Amino acid sequence: MTSPAAARPKPFLGLTVERRYRLIYKPVVFLASLMPLAWMACSLFGWLGFTPPVDVVKFLELRCGKTALNFIMLTLMVTPVRQLARLPNLLRLRRMLGLFAFFYATLHFTVYLLLDVDLDWHQVAADILKRPYITIGFTALVLLIPLALTSTNRMMRRLGRRWSRLHRLVYLIAVLGVWHFYWQEKIDVREPLVYAGLLLVLFGYRWVRSPNMWAVLAPGSTRPAAAVRRLARVAASSALRPPV
Ligand code: HEM
Repeated sequence: MTSPAAARPKPFLGLTVERRYRLIYKPVVFLASLMPLAWMACSLFGWLGFTPPVDVVKFLELRCGKTALNFIMLTLMVTPVRQLARLPNLLRLRRMLGLFAFFYATLHFTVYLLLDVDLDWHQVAADILKRPYITIGFTALVLLIPLALTSTNRMMRRLGRRWSRLHRLVYLIAVLGVWHFYWQEKIDVREPLVYAGLLLVLFGYRWVRSPNMWAVLAPGSTRPAAAVRRLARVAASSALRPPV
C-alpha cells in the first residue's frame, strides 16, 4: 500500500505551484510577451539581419494593433484552456496577458498619434467622429482603461462581485477589436474573418459552459448532463403519451 506522501505528486524542481509560477512561468511569459516589441525594434533598426520596412509608420501601427488583438484573444483563451486541459493555475497568467493587450493597444494609439497624425488633436477628433473604424478602435481602447486600472489585487477585493461584472467588458472589447480590424482592411478581409471565427468559437464555449444556457433549454438544470437527461425524459414522456 502506498503512503499518502508517496501518492502526492512530487513538486517540480522542489517548488510549490505558487513559487513555480512566480519564479519560472510568469517571467517566461513576460519575456515572451515582449518579443513582438523586440521584433519591431529589430525590424526598425535592421538589427540581427532584419530588413527595415519601407513604410515605418504603417509597419509599427499595424504590428502594434495586431499584437494588441492577439493578446486580447489569448486572454479570452485562458479559461477554456485551463478547463479543458485541467490546468487551474493557468489563471495566474491571465492578468499579465490582459495588461499586455492594454500596453500594445496604447502603443498602437501612440504610434497613430505621434507618427501618423503628428499630434494633431483636431485630426484625431475628426477621425474619431468621421471614420467609423477609428470610432470603434477608440471605443475599444477607452473600455480597456478601467480594466487595466482595476487589475490589481486591491481593486479586485474592493470591487468584489462587481469586479467580474466589469471585467466581462473584455468580450465587448474583443468584438470591437475584430470589427475595427475588419473595417480598416480595404482589400482582403480573410484574416479579420478568421479572428471573428475564433471569437465565435470562444463565445460558443462560454455559452455551452454557462449554467444559464442549460437552464434555458431545460428549466431547473444547471449542468449539461442533467439538462440532457431532463430533455430526454421530457421527450420520452411526450413520445409515450397517447395522442389526444
Ligand atoms: C484610439 C484607438 C485606435 C486608433 C486611433 C486606431 C487606429 C488604427 C489605424 C490608423 C490602423 C491602420 C489602418 C490602415 O493603415 O489602413 C489600425 C489598424 C489596426 N488596429 Fe487600431 N486603432 C485604435 C485602437 C485599436 C485597438 C484597441 C485594437 C485592438 C484591440 C486595434 C487593433 C488594430 C488592428 C488589429 C489593426 C490592423 C492590423 C493589421 O492589418 O495587421 N486598434 N488602427
